[in-house]
Amino acid sequence: ASCTKRTEEEPSKATEAQKSQNAELVVGTDAAYAPFESETSDKSIVGFDIEILKAIGEKSGLKLRFVNTPWEGLFNQLESGDRDILISAITINDERKKVMDFSEPYFEAVQLIVVPLSSKISKFSELKGKKIGVQTGTTGDEVASGLLGKTSDDIKRFEGTPLALQELSARGVDAVIADNGVINNFMANNKSDFKTISDPTFKKEFYGIAVKKGNTELIKKINEGLAAIKADGTYDSIFKKYFGD
Ligand code: ARG
Repeated sequence: ASCTKRTEEEPSKATEAQKSQNAELVVGTDAAYAPFESETSDKSIVGFDIEILKAIGEKSGLKLRFVNTPWEGLFNQLESGDRDILISAITINDERKKVMDFSEPYFEAVQLIVVPLSSKISKFSELKGKKIGVQTGTTGDEVASGLLGKTSDDIKRFEGTPLALQELSARGVDAVIADNGVINNFMANNKSDFKTISDPTFKKEFYGIAVKKGNTELIKKINEGLAAIKADGTYDSIFKKYFGD
């Protein structure tokens, strides 16, 4: 026990500091994006992103509570303060950097096209005049918009990627474009009905963890935790669990 005499303010300051140290941080994630984030039947949120952020939290002493949050409006939740952190397979790009701050990249991805096995489509450019399903406002949406034009009626936008894939199964769209990790996860159970098409013009994407713009203290802790789990093998073992070697 310390014998140091404290002035009136000091204990209350310490309590405040402690409070903010131990405060629970609310993490928003659109948990319909396996294997990155998904909800189990008993409503717990699991996935690669979840394990990565939990491991970061352990290193940096962050108390985290994950809340399933729809993709549309997800970014606004940082601004409003309803969420402190977002991890949702979010691709870092300049437009998003204007409205939120990102961690160092934690995952590399690329867009991938999925079509029915019987489809005659064999490359991206052949999707002209075809119906493409995407999740609204994702980088898949961007890629489709680049080919067909943002206002094209042939782009069918869904609030979740699983809904776009469902529409593909129902043949309501000719193709879906989404992140490779998610398409490959879908393919694992649907190899006999679908095939994937990659395109050399699709750019590398990097996922980042997002915080409210200007929250440098939190992003610093997240980056330190990320560096620590990369250094000690934790990142690699989580990666292996979800994506193999
Ligand atoms: N990486 C893509 C993007 O940032 C798609 C992310 C969608 N994530 C999700 N959890 N639904 O636009």
